[in-house]
Amino acid sequence: MPKAKNAVDDTPTRRSVLIAGAGIGLTATACTREARPPAGAPGPGAHAARRRQAGVTTPQQATALILAYDLDPALRGTAGARELKAVLERWTRALAETQETAETQQNGDTGDTGEAQEAGGGRVARLTATLGVGPRLPDRLGLRAPDALRDLPSFPGDRLDPARCDGDVLVQLCADSADAAEATAATLTRLAGDALSPRWRQGGFLPPSPDGGGTPRDLLGFKNGSANPTAEECERWVWAGDATYLVVRRVHLRVEDFARLAVHRQEEIVGRRRATGAPLDGGSEHDDVDPLAKDAQGRYTTPPRSHVRAASPRLDDGARMLRRSYSYADGPTDQGLLFLAFMRDPALFARVQRRMAAQDDLAAFTQARGSAVAYVLPGAGPGRPLGAELLG
Ligand code: HEM
Repeated sequence: MPKAKNAVDDTPTRRSVLIAGAGIGLTATACTREARPPAGAPGPGAHAARRRQAGVTTPQQATALILAYDLDPALRGTAGARELKAVLERWTRALAETQETAETQQNGDTGDTGEAQEAGGGRVARLTATLGVGPRLPDRLGLRAPDALRDLPSFPGDRLDPARCDGDVLVQLCADSADAAEATAATLTRLAGDALSPRWRQGGFLPPSPDGGGTPRDLLGFKNGSANPTAEECERWVWAGDATYLVVRRVHLRVEDFARLAVHRQEEIVGRRRATGAPLDGGSEHDDVDPLAKDAQGRYTTPPRSHVRAASPRLDDGARMLRRSYSYADGPTDQGLLFLAFMRDPALFARVQRRMAAQDDLAAFTQARGSAVAYVLPGAGPGRPLGAELLG
């Protein structure tokens, strides 16, 4: 029987999202519902203080915009570090101001909906900005790279476009309105001056869901994110202290070819029910799949070449990644999954991706065309702008 588990369902208070999103807040480990102390319990001060960026365990907003920047090649060593530090200080201040405007206006006439607020003349809906640095940056600046920060290896079946890969600084902007993310992107790019130049960008959205709410669906029509780690599992497998790593993959999907398959074949390929997201041998959406379970006739209940079997944490000693993917559609012939996943060591991604290439029937419908990895810095705090841990 499948084991019941709760997917991450963190509902940060609006204030903690906004403040951490601005990179200026002290958040307790309380970005998850499970970890937040119940009413009457000791408050966050009683727990270890955390400075973590929002946009990792934050419930998914409707849109995402990934921005990749390159540091001016002329900037190296201490001088380069100084320039980058100045940019990150400006970014930290700008993001904090946006949030303050939003807070003020929300407390004024928009009411505390917990959903959206007005700022800069448009709807700013649950905006989060999550920043990371790419693997080549620390060396160039003469800094010690965090241990797990390395370029991803190449994988069979990839068709990567270098113009959609890598980057010295990566920003994940998420909001319920694409305009809000765009406005913030324009501000960040302006404040970067000549030090950082835009390298690539990718927008993403959550397709409308027939069930309205709940786990979002991908363009293949399946719920995507059902087997995400619980809050407790995030502490163990996603966070490395207050930092984490983000893997971005722009994965083209053969949507029409997949749609032509009978639903039962689609379910065999994915390894979960299309309508409900439940395991194939029963149970409900957030139940774990046991990839080795067999029926009375001795046949595997989840096909050996299914995606969830190739991706199963049981093949990685229980290690889990937190997937927070969006869909993309860049014209009629290029649509797919903007795969976004956070984990404490990107080596996990590489292991799962290799298994996908070797033993996953879903791989025939996917092709990675863009790829990047970043070290997601600890969040900012009073007197500690983003990047303080890395740049001093
Ligand atoms: C390329 C397009 C992809 C699609 C359309 C896709 C779709 C899905 C779906 C529908 C599920 C089952 C529901 C869920 O738990 O979310 C799933 C599970 C999962 N996928 Fe993917 N996926 C893709 C790529 C990847 C990649 C590149 C990785 C990592 C290398 C990955 C890792 C996982 C993991 C870890 C699970 C959960 C397995 C479990 O705990 O049972 N997926 N994916």
